[in-house]
Amino acid sequence: MHSYQPDLRLQLFPVSASLEKTQQGERLAIAGLDVHDLAQDYGTPLYLYDQATLQQSLEDYQQALARDYPGESRITYAGKAFLCTAMAQWCHRQGLVVDCTGANEILLAAHAGLPRQQILVHGVNKSLADLETAISCAGVLVIDNLAELDRLTQLAQQSSDLPELWLRLRPGLSVDTHSYTQTGHLDSKFGMSAQECVVAARRCLERSLPLTGLHFHQGSHFHDPSLVKPAIEFALDLVREIRHDLGWLPQTLSPGGGWGVPYHEDDLPHLPVEEYVRTIAEALHSACQARNLPLPRLQLEPGRSLIARAGVAIYRVGTVKQTPNRRWLLIDGGMADNIRPALYGARYTALPAFNPHRQPVAPAWIAGPYCESGDILIEDLPLPEIEPGELLAVPVSGAYQLSMSSNYNGAARPAVVWLEDGAPTLLISRQVAGDLYRNDRPLPQ
Ligand code: LLP
Repeated sequence: MHSYQPDLRLQLFPVSASLEKTQQGERLAIAGLDVHDLAQDYGTPLYLYDQATLQQSLEDYQQALARDYPGESRITYAGKAFLCTAMAQWCHRQGLVVDCTGANEILLAAHAGLPRQQILVHGVNKSLADLETAISCAGVLVIDNLAELDRLTQLAQQSSDLPELWLRLRPGLSVDTHSYTQTGHLDSKFGMSAQECVVAARRCLERSLPLTGLHFHQGSHFHDPSLVKPAIEFALDLVREIRHDLGWLPQTLSPGGGWGVPYHEDDLPHLPVEEYVRTIAEALHSACQARNLPLPRLQLEPGRSLIARAGVAIYRVGTVKQTPNRRWLLIDGGMADNIRPALYGARYTALPAFNPHRQPVAPAWIAGPYCESGDILIEDLPLPEIEPGELLAVPVSGAYQLSMSSNYNGAARPAVVWLEDGAPTLLISRQVAGDLYRNDRPLPQ
């Protein structure tokens, strides 16, 4: 059994998390709010987002960019990590661009009040509706392939005001992460080869389309920043070629996002985001110098590393069960609100919200209520004795959990509460049964 270190686990929680000593014992608080009270008021499973952590992560990026990149820079938030109206509004206030995939995310962002300049559109097989919505609402549209560029050209004839266009390069270089979240390799479904990018650039210029940027994204949740360097070099070789052949230079270069985060105490210490930003900034700077190219605007596109730590999932233990070799803690959420362990083998940790400094007993297997043996949120986790009714808090739950959630077994999507200055605000109310059959229609008579 590995050791149980609740204080180390606590480091994965939002910056505002604390253990409050009360007469009954220690109680987990976030932004000064007792997690038990929040669970009482909003029910469980419950997703909490801590404003202070989000702000801190953003400032870490902004300060690192200002310090290390001599040119202009900008940050896009990858909305696929977690998007709702309030989150889009927060991005608006912070001056962030929001990356949307598909017409519906674009419409959500526009509905939240984001102006065109703060909406950027990605997607590997954009439908006509996606392209039309991007044309009317977005400031940047990232072209994934040549067929898409031709479809866009058709649509562009009816529009006087087009978003800026970027080309998505497939550099043939991935990052070290789960194969499901690698995107930069040669056989990835995303983006265009260098040769296709040259063709795309030529078509854009011939058709007087507003081509302004070059983008690549090698994958998501990687921890070694040096893997971005060769992709930057590759992209700038392409830029040099396109400048030579066509006289075009990108105003913006976007090396995507994907910086990883620690999910488990075993992932600590984790290289800080400053190292990632510095590596990219230096690589871009020196690659431009070596090729005698002007510095482009550097636009980073983080999702997880901005929002993951701000989020905490709160579950209530319903049943404690012993099988020959396992102590099971059965909780009220699982693969419906967090598919990541089942999909990628993602490894999480959890802290009891009450008296976490109790002595550990046998490791626990934390599983959800769904009819799947794979519905195991955390395997083999050192924990104290846990009674039915206790709350477990899972840190680093802010990214790709709710955005990939489902209604499996009729699960209602959980409530989401924003914590700021000691006050909770409901951002998304918990689904009710009617939400599950709202779009259903009866059989014909
Ligand atoms: N830019 C592009 C073009 C992307 O496709 C993504 C993520 C990002 C930026 C942001 O990546 P991040 O900084 O959040 O790692 N569901 C998976 C992750 C899929 C990522 C998809 N694209 C997971 O739960 O790990």
